[in-house]
Amino acid sequence: MTLQIGVIGTGWFGRMHAEKLARMEGVNMAAFVATSKQKADDAAKPFTDARGYENVSDMLDDRKLDAVYICVPPFAHGEIENELVKREIPFLVEKPLGVDIETPAAIGQAVQASGLITSVGYHFRYMESADKAKELLEGRLAAMAIGNWMGGMPGVGWWRKMEGSGGQFVEQTTHIVDLLRYLLGEVTEVYAAYGDRIMAGKEDGVEVPDIGTATFKLASGVVASISNTCAISAGDRAGLHIYTDKGVLELGHHGLIDIESSRKTEYVNKRDPYQLENEAFLHAVRTGDTSLIRSTYADALRTQEITVAANQSAKSGLPVRLPSYL
Ligand SMILES: NC(=O)c1ccc[n+]([C@@H]2O[C@H](COP(=O)([O-])OP(=O)(O)OC[C@H]3O[C@@H](n4cnc5c(N)ncnc54)[C@H](O)[C@@H]3O)[C@@H](O)[C@H]2O)c1
Repeated sequence: MTLQIGVIGTGWFGRMHAEKLARMEGVNMAAFVATSKQKADDAAKPFTDARGYENVSDMLDDRKLDAVYICVPPFAHGEIENELVKREIPFLVEKPLGVDIETPAAIGQAVQASGLITSVGYHFRYMESADKAKELLEGRLAAMAIGNWMGGMPGVGWWRKMEGSGGQFVEQTTHIVDLLRYLLGEVTEVYAAYGDRIMAGKEDGVEVPDIGTATFKLASGVVASISNTCAISAGDRAGLHIYTDKGVLELGHHGLIDIESSRKTEYVNKRDPYQLENEAFLHAVRTGDTSLIRSTYADALRTQEITVAANQSAKSGLPVRLPSYL
């Protein structure tokens, strides 16, 4: 069975997903939605059978789709998901789920009531090194974790505004917060401090903090801290180090380094985690078996809640206990 796929949002990541999907067996790129018909047509052009649309309902009226990829900026969520839920079309939505918790929580309720298949683009969960870390943690006691996302500021305008992206913790560092949850369990409290040191004085239109650090208490008793900056153009490192009773597990994009007193073992990711994420989602769409999906809408809602709570804490100066919306 050939799956007919639509993509909403034709920027960097919408195009990246489309290219990967088009190379998969039994997948046809059928439709693209952008903020103008011209942009949508341009995105559709490389794919023989694809058409461009200016809005989601036009696309769904015209083409019978099996699944849709949502690759819009964080501020643009809400109506898109509601339309897909209404028409019972499974979707993979890129992280983060939104800029706040209210819109994603309402979508989450509708998704749950519909029983729709969903997947969220927390691709770190699909790294082979995340599997290895999970396996190693079964025989070790995790004590604490230190994570980071240190890099430059993405060029797109929406990223620089809180109402556009939600800021770095919500938009980017969410991957590390999600990995923390995936490997070490639920977060029960967060306290954060943010600042503006470099970017607002250097580039126009920057309203998001460019440094931040957050402390997390986990239900297990683990304590973690995650820091981020988007002011270091030469940096670009992201990862999570887990300190255990039997050494340190250092996870990054590349893979995992397992350090015990006199032994250092490196596991390099061989497979593309985005490809594994696509395979898991499309397998679910084809068969109804969702067991390979590692981040559903309901699960990602917990990560969203934590990063939004970090923003609230940085604003109020007070710790936030979780979950606060359930
Ligand atoms: N998982 C990852 O590793 C990863 C990496 C990069 C981006 N992302 C996520 O993907 C999403 C998109 O990021 P990007 O880098 O492609 O941004 P981008 O700015 O390059 O592209 C977003 C596109 O969406 C369009 N858009 C905005 N509102 C829309 C709407 N209502 N309907 C249709 N299109 C709309 C914009 O015009 C733009 O073309 C973000 O949430 C980002 O966090 C995830």
